[in-house]
Amino acid sequence: MLETVASPIGKLWDRVFAFGYDRFLAGSENAGLSDRRHELLAAARGATLDVGAGTGLNVRHYPPAVERLVLLEPSPFMAAKLRSRVAAEAAGRTVEVVEAAGEALPFPDDEFDTVAVTLVLCTIPDPAAALREVARVLRPGGALLFLEHVRSPEPAVARWQDRLERPWAWVGNGCHCNRDTLATLEASPLSVEEVHHDDFPKSPPLVRPLIVGSARAS
Ligand SMILES: C[S@@+](CC[C@H](N)C(=O)[O-])C[C@H]1O[C@@H](n2cnc3c(N)ncnc32)[C@H](O)[C@@H]1O
Repeated sequence: MLETVASPIGKLWDRVFAFGYDRFLAGSENAGLSDRRHELLAAARGATLDVGAGTGLNVRHYPPAVERLVLLEPSPFMAAKLRSRVAAEAAGRTVEVVEAAGEALPFPDDEFDTVAVTLVLCTIPDPAAALREVARVLRPGGALLFLEHVRSPEPAVARWQDRLERPWAWVGNGCHCNRDTLATLEASPLSVEEVHHDDFPKSPPLVRPLIVGSARAS
C-alpha cells in the first residue's frame, strides 16, 4: 500500500501526481534523464520486471532482447496511465501490467532475467524488503538495473535533505529525498557491480545526487 494515500487527501494527491507526472518530469527527461534511462536499460534482456513503473517512461527504452516485460505498479492511477502507454508502445512484445507492491512480489523464485528500478527506492516504504524480493525473483546471475536519486555525500546538502524530508514527501507523493540507497543496495542480498555517480538533470538540489548502475543476484 502506498504510504501517502491512506487519507482522502492522500488519495487525491496520488491521482494528481499520476496525472501530472510526465509533465513534472518533462524538463529533466529532455535535459538528459531520458538518455540515462536508455543507456541503463540497454542491458535488459529476457524476462524483465520494472518495479514501480509509474506512467511507463522506461517502456520505450527496453531493447528487443527483452522478450517479456512485466510492469509492476501499486497506484491504480499510475497503472491506468501505464496501460494506455503500453497500448501505444508495446512494440510487439508481451507486456503485462500488475498492480502490486515491491515488498511482496507476486511471482515465483527465479522468474526474471532482469529487474529495473528507476526513481523508486526513494518511495517504496520498505526498500530493504523490496530488494530482498528482487533478489528472490531474479534467477541466479540475473541483473538489477538501478537509477535512483540519493542522499547527498555533502553534509550541508544532506542536512537540508533531512530537514525537508517530510514536506518533500508530501509534494513527491511519498518520495524520501534523504535515503542512502547505495548503502541499502550494498546491504541487500544482491552484489553491486557498477555504480556511476551523476546528477539528476534540471532538478532541485534536494534530489540532484543520482546513482546509476547494476547489481547481480547469486
Ligand atoms: C517517482 S515514481 C517513478 C516512476 C518510474 N519508475 C519512473 O522512473 O518514472 C515512484 C513510483 O513508485 C511507486 N511505488 C510507491 N510505492 C511502491 C511500492 N511499495 N512498490 C512498488 N512501487 C511503489 C509509485 O506509485 C510511483 O509510480
